[in-house]
Amino acid sequence: MMVAQGDPRLAVIGRRLARVARVVPVMSSKGGVGKTLLSCLLALALSERGARVGLLDLDVTNPTAHVVLGADLSKFPEEDRGVVPPLIGGVKFMSVAYYSGENPLPLRGWEIDNVVREVLAVTIWGDLDFLVIDTPPGIGDEVLDVLSYFPKHEPLVVATPSPLTVTSVRRLLKLLTEAVKGELIRVVENMARDNSSIIADLARKFRVGFLGKVRFDEGVDRAVGDIDALRESRMYRDVSMIAEKLL
Ligand SMILES: Nc1ncnc2c1ncn2[C@@H]1O[C@H](COP(=O)(O)OP(=O)(O)OP(=O)(O)O)[C@@H](O)[C@H]1O
Ligand SMILES: [Mg+2]
Repeated sequence: MMVAQGDPRLAVIGRRLARVARVVPVMSSKGGVGKTLLSCLLALALSERGARVGLLDLDVTNPTAHVVLGADLSKFPEEDRGVVPPLIGGVKFMSVAYYSGENPLPLRGWEIDNVVREVLAVTIWGDLDFLVIDTPPGIGDEVLDVLSYFPKHEPLVVATPSPLTVTSVRRLLKLLTEAVKGELIRVVENMARDNSSIIADLARKFRVGFLGKVRFDEGVDRAVGDIDALRESRMYRDVSMIAEKLL
């Protein structure tokens, strides 16, 4: 790793996250399965149920959670001995997009690690019941960083019910079950269209939790960017059931 072992930010990161009770990184083995939509809706649903929730978009090179939440990137977060995440729909929201905007951020491995450290070191979360983290697909740098910087985390794996997904979900579950206790790992099936049990079966095989299905909702794209409309969507209702099970 290019960043010095003695990086003082590592100690700062520990302090910044000290009052976060549960860290839920939302992951997937494949891209485009709905991690970002699901992270945003999950954060909103947990907050609606009275939990203190933070949402961190850690997809460094392609952040999109601000689009789902309709966050105004020109309203830069306030600084007070750190960066204070703005409240959006009751959720404390932080994203690299506040810094990079809509510009491309072509970074290599160690540079991504550096951005992740910087964001974690500057963000003041305060007391949180949940920190939901949106991550890029696969097991790249941001995901490996999450695994190493968050001593206690509860991965939420998003998978779609296609036979092509199974091989790659299996790979991710293999990696996660080597690092995290099985009961802390949970799987959600997204864009479910029928009563296929392909994802539930996989979860059972790996002895990890299965939190249920989020059905395909053809209306959800129209609600993107509008929190009230998102809360009216069928996808939100399904994700709310998942939130109940997490609480
Ligand atoms: N339950 C759902 N019903 C209908 N469409 C959905 C659902 N979940 C996700 N989608 C569709 O999938 C698209 C991709 O979702 P999203 O961007 O959240 O995926 P992602 O896993 O974060 O992608 P990436 O891997 O690129 O980060 C959405 O724009 C939406 O059109
Ligand atoms: Mg995404």
